[in-house]
Amino acid sequence: MRRNAIAAMIVVATTACLAVAWAQKAATSTASATSAPGLKEVSEFDGINDQRKRSVALFEEAGKVLQHPRCLNCHPVERAPTQGDDLHPHVPEVAGGADNHGMPGMPCNSCHGKSNSMTLGDTVRTIPGDAHWALAPASMAWQGKSLGQICEQLKDLKRNGNRDLAKISHHMGTDTLVGWAWNPGSGRTPAPGTQKQFGALVDAWIASGAACPQ
Ligand code: HEC
Ligand code: HEC
Repeated sequence: MRRNAIAAMIVVATTACLAVAWAQKAATSTASATSAPGLKEVSEFDGINDQRKRSVALFEEAGKVLQHPRCLNCHPVERAPTQGDDLHPHVPEVAGGADNHGMPGMPCNSCHGKSNSMTLGDTVRTIPGDAHWALAPASMAWQGKSLGQICEQLKDLKRNGNRDLAKISHHMGTDTLVGWAWNPGSGRTPAPGTQKQFGALVDAWIASGAACPQ
């Protein structure tokens, strides 16, 4: 009798373990299905009939890139870049300086080359690089701003480097410094999707009236 009770308990416990394991497996596969990195295609917004809503939705999708750490680290509010997915202060401490290329004696390109370079270390596996490596000017700061605020300032000729929407689109879709975000070097998460997909979203946003989220 006692032995049977123990056996029954073992069966119950094993079943419970299997159920938990199954539930965990189901949970992880659902999570990976929804959090898969990527961007929606422009055509996926065709179903939104309201032109303004469609434009806002396209910008929000492009916002997954604009607000990605790879872009934000170089578009800070303070005049110093940040690093990593947690936007921690740049090590060593550097500043954009008068021309956004760094301080005299420690310009960005004393460390950042024309392309990503491997290091011999494990903690920092690559030093990011691009021929135009520099800090975005203060008027183009995005960190800590809402997507709506970023949208408004992107369209403002006084703050966006005097670029009309055609130039903004060209910059987003083709600029190599922007493109670095999809090829950030070993040890860094790339921006979602591809620069081409991102450029197409920005183009479709402009073509639909370049509306901004509230
Ligand atoms: C003394 C060398 C040095 C100087 C000077 C320097 N950097 Fe860096 N920077 C690095 C290293 C090394 C890394 C990689 C750190 C890591 O991945 O943990 C880095 C990473 C970064 C990143 C982070 C990329 C990311 O998304 O994680 C940005 C942005 C950046 N630097 C911008 C600049 C800018 C802009 C300047 C000039 C104003 C500059 N750096 C000057 C060495 C330097
Ligand atoms: C290494 C630093 C760096 C990184 C990384 C970076 N930018 Fe920039 N960005 C700049 C600089 C510098 C300028 C100013 C260039 C100019 O005016 O000629 C700029 C300007 C811009 C502008 C012009 C208009 C405006 O209002 O900001 C856009 C758009 C832009 N960047 C988009 C992006 C996007 C999107 C990403 C990420 C996919 C990105 N940038 C990543 C440095 C960076």
